Amino acid sequence: MKNIAIFASGSGSNAQKIIAHFNTKKSLVGQVALVVCNKENAGVLQIAAAAQVPSAVITKTQLNNEDYMQALLQKHHIDFIVLAGFLLLIPEFLTRYFHHKIVNIHPALLPKYGGKGMYGKNVHQAVWQNRESQTGITIHFANEHYDEGNIIFQASTEITAADTPETIAQKVQQLEHQHFPAVIEKLLKG
Ligand code: GRF
Repeated sequence: MKNIAIFASGSGSNAQKIIAHFNTKKSLVGQVALVVCNKENAGVLQIAAAAQVPSAVITKTQLNNEDYMQALLQKHHIDFIVLAGFLLLIPEFLTRYFHHKIVNIHPALLPKYGGKGMYGKNVHQAVWQNRESQTGITIHFANEHYDEGNIIFQASTEITAADTPETIAQKVQQLEHQHFPAVIEKLLKG
């Protein structure tokens, strides 16, 4: 049974699906043992509390403090890290220590529409502005640069003339919720 830490900064809809997949359905492969967040009042903290998953609110300084993070992750026996809307850059000591054990989800078909500042509705706005015919999600191993690292999985959806950045966001979120828990499970199975 692997212990998963979810790092998130926002509403946590992906975290909610992942917790439902592993904890509520009592997966034999993994369980979400910790939620790490850098924002006091983020929705993901309520989701963790409702699911009785321990959470830790950390500052950017603490994230970049090797002793602090080692102690936090060891305390919860974390084997695997899932970034689900975590807006801080993961420090190199973590990507090294958890090599190919940190995955990120990005709401676009990387390498397009990735990198610093490309998150949330900025991504869908840019995709819409450029009249792309499709968009989608990318799940990849995280490294110390935003949205780089080997791509594990992609799924796409078409964009029609009727779409707006909001409807594109909804289509992409559907793909995230549909695929992220299953991709994590496959990775944990090795
Ligand atoms: C998602 O769009 C994900 O692709 C990106 O951050 C967002 C998280 O959304 N990495 P939520 O907080 O899980 O609803």
